[in-house]
Amino acid sequence: GGGDMPVVVSLLNSFSGWAAAGIGFTLNNSMLIIAGSLVGSSGAILSYVMCKAMNRSLMNVLFGGFGAAAAGAVVEGEQKQKNYKSGSPDDAGFLMSNADSVIIVPGYGMAQARAQNAVKELAISLKEKGVNVRYAIHPVAGRMPGHMNVLLAEADVPYEDVKEMDEINSDFASTDVVLVIGANDVVNPAAKDDPSSPIYGMPILEAHRARTVMVIKRSMATGYAGLDNDLFYLDKTMMIFGDGKK
Ligand code: TAP
Repeated sequence: GGGDMPVVVSLLNSFSGWAAAGIGFTLNNSMLIIAGSLVGSSGAILSYVMCKAMNRSLMNVLFGGFGAAAAGAVVEGEQKQKNYKSGSPDDAGFLMSNADSVIIVPGYGMAQARAQNAVKELAISLKEKGVNVRYAIHPVAGRMPGHMNVLLAEADVPYEDVKEMDEINSDFASTDVVLVIGANDVVNPAAKDDPSSPIYGMPILEAHRARTVMVIKRSMATGYAGLDNDLFYLDKTMMIFGDGKK
């Protein structure tokens, strides 16, 4: 899958480093050995960190399919029987402006919609109303390491409002509203609760613990892993269908 490319690229980077270090030994050049080892080890560490965050082995990333057809078929059948609530952007605006705290969870869909500036404007108007707004970033949200951090930085979101998963996970339970924008797998509770799920064991942002959850996406379609997401069917969840930026 194209989405696995970042891991492959970082692995190839690592190999280029080890190759340079090897040439350093042949030429007896210590600078090449040191620089090559740095590139080689940092690429290897990055590949390992990405695989760990996706709860997959390197072999599976390189050679395996993910959420393959069989899983998708089961999911489609299930999806038809489940009910979900949907609301309008006005409903969402009303709920958020009356909240004390809002956590925004961006995912690949925010990048796809190029919605980072719109998200920042939303955060600013909520802050003007006295709402405590923060962003929760999952290590593999999006399609490459640091994808969400880069987009939010590009939109000039204050660095102190952007929280990493370990830092913010314990705050979801005491948060009024979580706004999930274009994220899916990184907030899928199956990763915690369902041992049969292919993503079981992957750490997630615990958005399901918040008092109200709002999800902006275009449809009930699955994310990268091809899995249905029980978060969307909770009583406290409101789906807001449409393009993220809109
Ligand atoms: P995903 O699980 O891929 O979900 C993205 C969601 O965004 C989709 O469900 C899609 O739903 C929605 N979306 C797409 N375009 C949109 C738009 N224009 N407006 C609004 N919503 C839109 O994303 P995630 O939660 O960020 O998880 C990332 C996944 O990628 C993980 O499974 C991770 O393992 C994998 N991955 C990550 C990396 C790195 S390093 N970040 C590398 C390889 C793989 P609709 O189609 O219904 O809109």
